[in-house]
Parts: sequence; C-alpha cells; structure tokens
Amino acid sequence: MKVEKNQIDFENLPTHIAIIMDGNGRWAQKHNKTRTEGHEAGSKTLENLTKEMDTLGIQYVTVYAFSTENWKRPKAEVDFLMGLLRQYLKRHIRQAKRDNIKIRIIGDRSMLAKDIQKQITVLEEITENKTGLGLQIALNYGGRDEIIRSMQKIGEDLLHKKVMVEEINESLFEKYLDTALIPDPDLLIRTSGEIRLSNFLLWQLAYTELYFCEKYWPDFSMNDLYQAIYHFQQRKRRFGAL
Ligand code: IPE
Ligand code: IPE
Ligand code: MG
Repeated sequence: MKVEKNQIDFENLPTHIAIIMDGNGRWAQKHNKTRTEGHEAGSKTLENLTKEMDTLGIQYVTVYAFSTENWKRPKAEVDFLMGLLRQYLKRHIRQAKRDNIKIRIIGDRSMLAKDIQKQITVLEEITENKTGLGLQIALNYGGRDEIIRSMQKIGEDLLHKKVMVEEINESLFEKYLDTALIPDPDLLIRTSGEIRLSNFLLWQLAYTELYFCEKYWPDFSMNDLYQAIYHFQQRKRRFGAL
C-alpha cells in the first residue's frame, strides 16, 4: 500500500524516531558498485532525510552510523567510513550558520581519531542552541557498551559519595546514558529487511514501536518515511496499561 503525505496526521508525529540505516553494501552489490559507493549513497540519503525531517517538524532523530561491532570489518572499509565521517563533520561545521539542526554524537568517542573527536566537539558546540531537529548520530555506539559506561560513571559517583546506593533507580540511571535528557524513541525504523536490533539503544527501545522496511538504506525516501509514520499512527500504544 502506497501512503501519500496527506494521509499523515501532522498533529501527532512521533516525537523521536530512531533509524538503523542498513543495507548500503547490498544496495551497492545490486547496482554493481563497490561497498564504498554504497556508503556514499547512504550518506546522501541521511543528508536529504534529515533536512526533510527538520522541515516536517520532527523533534528528535537518532541514527545508527557505526556500531561498536563495525570495527570487525576490513580496515579499508572502516577507513572509508571514517573519511566519510570527517567530510560530514566538516560540511556541517561549515554550514552550521544557515542550518537549524542541533547535532549530538552518542557512543564511545574516545576510540575515534583525535581530529574527529575535535570536530565533534566543535560541531556540538556550534549547534548547541539550535531550535530545529535534534539529530543524534550513533558512532562507535553499542547499547551494551553504553550501559556499561553508565555503570562505570555511577560507580565513580558512588565512590566519591555523589550518589547513594538507595538513589539508584531508572530515572537516575537514564541521566548517565548518552541519551540523557532526550525522550525514548517512539518509532524505530530498520531498513534492508533485517529484523534485529544489532545492539542499538537497548535500554531506550523498551517500549518503542518497531518498523522494518525491505528497502536498502540508499533507496529509503521521504515517502518511505511517511509510510513508516502512517503505520506507526495506526498502532495503539499501551505501555503495559489497558
Ligand atoms: C549499513 O550498511 C552501514 C553500516 C553498518 C556502516 P551495511 O554496510 O551494513 O550494508 P549491508 O548490510 O552489508 O548491506
Ligand atoms: C547495524 O548494522 C549498524 C549500523 C547500521 C551502523 P550492521 O549491518 O552492522 O548489523 P548486522 O551485522 O547486520 O547485525
Ligand atoms: Mg548491514
């Protein structure tokens, strides 16, 4: 079923959409291209979609760009992805004046190259007060790793008596996550037909509506997004209550 833009209820958009951008490699293979060309095409999709989601008035989007497990890929592919990331950061630092997107990186950035870490800090600082779309990019991100890093930070605060054992509860724990201050995703989209989480936002997705789409990420269009939102809007969320 094809969904048109006017079928969407714009008064009830999901506040936070999470996306597992998957299928760049298979898209390339299908078109007789190299995997790197697939990643290049995928990064263009991200650029277009974030612009349009900002225009649409979506408040938060979190995209999975590089997982803690993706280091297992061939070095040449990892290097290419890091190169794409450098270009992305540079471009957004350059155009930050005319954009209204607030960018935040989640994941363990200490494992990234120093120049990338520096660019990330600059980009986060210059977009900090933007009022448009809040874009979280997950880089060297793993849900389990995030939970462990949070526990380490809590452990430090326990040692320094900044926190008491009795104070540890869900809302305190969330303050230690990379996604602190951002509401949990309402809708998760994964492209490429894979039906798994691959270690993405394990804590935050507890009550998220899941939507799986057959298309490879470079082919994912605004219409596909409308389709996902339309299906989301047909569902009844319950959160365990009646
Ligand atoms: C997603 O596409 C991008 C990253 C994981 C960096 P893939 O590279 O996983 O593409 P497939 O799954 O091999 O098709
Ligand atoms: C998940 O995709 C990570 C990103 C999209 C960045 P993968 O392609 O790495 O996941 P698996 O290996 O299929 O589970
Ligand atoms: Mg994949």
